[in-house]
Amino acid sequence: MFRQLPRTLVIGSTVTLLILIFIYLFTKLPTGGENKSAGQISYSGTDKCATCHKRVTPDIVNQFAISTMAKAGVRCTDCHVVERSNPMGKEHEGFFITVSPTPKQCAKCHPAETTQFEHSRHGGPAWVALSGFSDFTAKQKKIVEQIPEVNRGPNGIITATRNSLFDIEGTSVTPAACLTCHSIGKPNEDGSIGNCNKCHLRHEFSISQVRKPEICGQCHLGPDHPQMEIYHESAHGVMYQTEGSKWNWDQKPGRLTTSDMPAPTCATCHMSGFGNQGTTHDVGQRLSKFLFAAVTTDRPNAFEGREAMKSICANCHSSQFVDEQYAKADSVTAFVNSKVEEANQIMQGLVKDGIISDKPFANTISFDAFDLWHFYGRTAKFGAYMQGPDYVQWHGVYPLLKQLAKVKEEAALLRAAHKHGGKI
Ligand code: HEC
Ligand code: HEC
Ligand code: HEC
Ligand code: HEC
Ligand code: HEC
Ligand code: HEC
Ligand code: HEC
Ligand code: HEC
Repeated sequence: MFRQLPRTLVIGSTVTLLILIFIYLFTKLPTGGENKSAGQISYSGTDKCATCHKRVTPDIVNQFAISTMAKAGVRCTDCHVVERSNPMGKEHEGFFITVSPTPKQCAKCHPAETTQFEHSRHGGPAWVALSGFSDFTAKQKKIVEQIPEVNRGPNGIITATRNSLFDIEGTSVTPAACLTCHSIGKPNEDGSIGNCNKCHLRHEFSISQVRKPEICGQCHLGPDHPQMEIYHESAHGVMYQTEGSKWNWDQKPGRLTTSDMPAPTCATCHMSGFGNQGTTHDVGQRLSKFLFAAVTTDRPNAFEGREAMKSICANCHSSQFVDEQYAKADSVTAFVNSKVEEANQIMQGLVKDGIISDKPFANTISFDAFDLWHFYGRTAKFGAYMQGPDYVQWHGVYPLLKQLAKVKEEAALLRAAHKHGGKI
């Protein structure tokens, strides 16, 4: 009897345990949908805005409810309710809210990210590129002027006044064009600069989403900066397109390694904490050259920038391999520079001799000379540093050479016409 008792107990408790496990598995195991709605109910109950907005704009409440921020206790009020002195605020259902939260609100909890962003070309410089400093307050202007990349000499952003194409196209076009992309660095009425929301799409503010290249590809595409297209043809982009669905996109920021992501996206190389590099919102931190400029020169922090980027590559490649890639790309850049300088001299000669006006985009030849560096020269350089051979070659150097021949021919014709008839 005595020896039987524990045995019954053992069997009894094992069976009970198994039953409990089954009950758990069938009732508690999270299925995507159930988990979501449970989160939403407990979320909206504590927030007046969310409780009402669940009826008014259910999509917004549902999206925010599944975000990391909602789970960490952040509420609608944290971003939308502002002090009465805020010029962007208005009365709303007994609250004083802003419809468009700016980096000023994010900075309350994310000061480091906001400062880094503000000190990058994604901040003020993106807006200065269009309309100069006219929309900036003295305080905002000061923030922009502290960015090292801004002080880059004769063709520097700091000397840029209004962009001529921006003014030629005018307000009937620019709000749906230039401003949509460049508003990433818009000066805001509350004194802050820029729009985090351009990358961190509302209201999920999803970390896995912002690490994917499509976020950057909203703006970094097309003939003048085809970084997205170049990425797609690179081995890195092919890895992303064919294997990316298996990667661990949700890894906590700062903890990403090659086992989460065996090939890089735009964010990995330019922003993510990876290996010995910390996360940065200063997208210029890992760069060494002004590639977007007509004639490329070194950045003020060229050495540190290049070392930082190389140490990202070094997580996956040997340092010798990486040095070789940089050497190939530097050599393409030197070639492009020499061709662009040749075209520049031709254009300057025409202006000096009174053959064409120095007004931008006044003649066909000024459009052609602009395309030469702005489309083909830039594209070849971007392709070289980001592993896009078709962009170096057939979208880059080949049309660049053809364009130079065209500019030379046009210049000769203009000179001949000038000799016989005067100014064109
Ligand atoms: C009692 C209901 C109610 C409460 C409480 C409420 N809202 Fe609203 N809210 C509305 C309605 C209704 C609209 C108009 C929706 C529309 O036009 O489709 C609206 C619109 C908005 C808009 C867009 C306004 C615009 O001009 O585009 C924002 C932003 C907003 N609410 C945020 C909030 C925040 C943040 C809170 C909490 C501080 C809040 N709401 C509290 C009902 C409410
Ligand atoms: C982490 C900050 C943050 C939180 C928290 C937040 N929002 Fe927003 N919300 C934004 C941003 C950013 C925008 C877009 C601003 C812009 O670009 O104009 C926005 C826009 C809106 C709009 C107007 C635009 C539209 O699509 O209609 C409404 C309404 C709104 N939020 C409601 C809410 C509600 C309700 C909650 C809580 C469930 C909430 N927000 C929580 C940041 C936040
Ligand atoms: C009231 C404080 C507060 C405000 C205001 C706030 N956040 Fe957050 N944010 C948090 C907290 C807390 C977390 C969660 C941190 C964690 O869990 O690691 C977070 C996380 C994030 C993350 C990472 C999400 C993830 O999945 O890891 C992003 C991106 C983010 N916030 C963007 C923003 C932006 C953009 C704004 C302004 C529009 C903003 N936040 C405003 C407190 C805030
Ligand atoms: C599709 C988004 C998009 C549109 C539309 C757009 N840009 Fe840009 N622009 C960019 C990006 C991205 C860069 C950065 C290129 C780089 O650094 O490689 C850039 C760079 C520039 C630069 C060079 C950087 C500088 O600060 O000097 C100027 C000038 C410029 N854009 C002006 C304009 C003007 C003027 C328009 C409209 C006529 C315009 N852009 C339309 C995305 C855009
Ligand atoms: C150019 C796109 C872009 C813009 C603009 C941007 N972010 Fe981010 N942000 C990212 C990326 C990419 C990551 C993820 C980095 C990684 O892989 O860990 C990130 C991560 C974050 C995180 C989590 C970082 C951490 O270490 O926990 C926060 C918080 C954040 N961003 C806040 C902001 C705020 C606030 C702004 C505006 C001042 C902003 N971001 C603007 C792309 C952007
Ligand atoms: C393998 C790493 C890597 C990936 C992936 C990558 N880049 Fe780059 N990127 C570079 C390097 C290296 C440079 C040139 C660095 C220098 O100046 O020394 C560069 C240059 C740039 C520049 C030029 C800045 C200037 O001077 O005009 C932009 C803009 C850019 N990348 C955006 C992107 C975008 C957007 C994506 C994704 C579609 C992307 N990059 C993917 C490594 C990368
Ligand atoms: C809303 C449009 C937009 C988005 C989204 C965007 N960028 Fe940009 N980016 C720009 C513009 C505009 C510039 C050029 C700003 C200027 O004219 O000074 C730029 C410049 C850059 C530069 C050059 C910085 C320098 O110092 O020269 C890099 C690198 C870059 N972006 C990387 C990224 C990456 C990586 C992402 C995605 C995580 C991204 N961008 C998302 C608009 C965007
Ligand atoms: C997270 C890991 C990772 C990082 C970071 C990374 N790469 Fe790669 N890279 C890969 C993988 C994986 C491949 C595909 C291997 C293949 O082509 O067989 C690849 C392929 C390449 C190729 C094509 C190789 C070939 O044989 O055709 C080049 C060139 C390259 N990377 C250069 C770079 C440079 C330069 C950097 C830094 C600016 C960099 N990579 C950063 C993982 C990485």
